[in-house]
Amino acid sequence: MKIIESKSSQQTFKLGEAAGKKITRGICIALQGELGTGKTTFVQGLGKGLGVSEKYYITSPTFNIINEYPAGVFTLCHLDLYRLESADELEGIGFDDIYGDNHIIVVEWPEILKHISFEFDIEINFKFDAQYNRIISVFASGQPGSNLLSKLSL
Ligand SMILES: Nc1ncnc2c1ncn2[C@@H]1O[C@H](COP(=O)(O)OP(=O)(O)OP(=O)(O)O)[C@@H](O)[C@H]1O
Ligand SMILES: [Mg+2]
Repeated sequence: MKIIESKSSQQTFKLGEAAGKKITRGICIALQGELGTGKTTFVQGLGKGLGVSEKYYITSPTFNIINEYPAGVFTLCHLDLYRLESADELEGIGFDDIYGDNHIIVVEWPEILKHISFEFDIEINFKFDAQYNRIISVFASGQPGSNLLSKLSL
């Protein structure tokens, strides 16, 4: 586990960017935390680090649920499951079609997937501290997740 404090949205962006640069294979990342804690900000940085073209502006896919961005050999799949009520809806949103080695899957509000025991390589928890900075805790399971975690820092 690693705990990182972010004192600005730029720092959270940079953390995502650093992670994106270190990714060398498909990976699934869960982003947990209350509204406004910086999950999407992290994904914006991740997209930059992965080489997603600046013509795309990454925003929370709250309404379309899945957004996909080409990133070199990879595809960044950004999901926001906030509006989903149950795992039965996953097929309808095309979740089953995105699984593959060249996908970087990042999921905001991942609880529904956790309930069906979907395995994430990395879980990142975002919290406000008393000064409204962000405490970012990163947990890894398995080799790909642990490799990325070990390279992660601000
Ligand atoms: N240290 C910080 N890290 C991230 N964002 C910060 C930080 N400090 C301030 N902010 C601001 O907080 C907001 C975070 O919004 P963001 O959309 O990234 O959150 P989110 O976790 O994706 O929320 P939601 O659950 O609504 O999708 C932005 O307006 C950002 O500028
Ligand atoms: Mg968001």
